Amino acid sequence: MESTQDLRGDRSLQDAEPLAGSLPDSERGLPLCVTAPAPGTVLADWIAERHDAVMAARRKHGALRFRGFAVDQAQAFEDAARVIAPDLQCEYLGQSPRRKLSDYVFTSTELPPHYPIPQHAEMSFYFDRAPHSLFFWCPTPSAVGGATPLTDLRRVYRDLDPVVREAFETRGVRHIRAYKGPKAKHNFDVFQFKRWHEVYGTTDKAEVERIAHEAGDELVWDDDDRLTLYSTHPAVRAHPETGEMAWFNHSQVMHLAATPHELARQARLLGSPRLFASAAALKLIAVAKHRLLPADRQSYHVTYADGGEIPSSHIRHVCDVVWRNTVVQPWQRGDVLAIDNASVAHGRQPFQGERLVAVAWA
Ligand SMILES: [Fe+2]
Repeated sequence: MESTQDLRGDRSLQDAEPLAGSLPDSERGLPLCVTAPAPGTVLADWIAERHDAVMAARRKHGALRFRGFAVDQAQAFEDAARVIAPDLQCEYLGQSPRRKLSDYVFTSTELPPHYPIPQHAEMSFYFDRAPHSLFFWCPTPSAVGGATPLTDLRRVYRDLDPVVREAFETRGVRHIRAYKGPKAKHNFDVFQFKRWHEVYGTTDKAEVERIAHEAGDELVWDDDDRLTLYSTHPAVRAHPETGEMAWFNHSQVMHLAATPHELARQARLLGSPRLFASAAALKLIAVAKHRLLPADRQSYHVTYADGGEIPSSHIRHVCDVVWRNTVVQPWQRGDVLAIDNASVAHGRQPFQGERLVAVAWA
């Protein structure tokens, strides 16, 4: 899914004028924050007028934040995203429940507010089929929490312990996802919110197999209508345009040892006693579930590509390096983020109150 416009005029991007903006977190180098020159400025027009500078800045910093522009409808957001990535997509085979807002704009996730979403490159378990560009827009910021943290995955690759990195780099990873099916009367799994017909939009198993095989996934049906998907890929990836190496997998999201570690960290980070309590409760459920069920009955897990278990200490180290390189900035109404999905990961903090964040991708 390479954007022809992304790759067009590479030389002109190198020569592009630097985009004027501020870098509140200069230590981590992202996001570059751009403010509208005047109220009512249309973001799509503003980007189109300095397209090369915007593309060059996104390539360098990995993420741009636009604030104060006239983005009050999903269509205005879609128009702005399309200037950067003309090949917007609407097919989504990922983990989050989503709701459609326009042809190419969806709610970022319908997960309950108290669930944190760990940092990840969008759909990295599809590796070279993952989106190259990701856009978020916030029409309604939450009163407490709800930020979309950003992580430079090139820095994560650089900062990992060489022993850990080499093991991942030489052995690759296998993402394992298990879904109940339409025959399941309920879906009580607190860590898997979709059933397989909701992922694929069909109850036709032959069609599911066709889509999964096209995406490069192996799949196994259980007698009880449960589907297990195996996505096997390298754990790191050279940036398709710059060749810079980046961490590019879902192990710190889907490994069994990652969930309790991430929940404990979120519980510590959150100032709200209510969110602290729910993160702590989820951590207890995750630990119990992981102790009571074998790995092949869990909702998700990650192993090395050869099936060997990744040491939990390695996963905790990955999570620590990810957080060391993560920037958390609260949303303001109308903010737009433009992310290079090959170099920057995103997540979601738990939140309280009403919140709407929309997503588009290409
Ligand atoms: Fe995501």
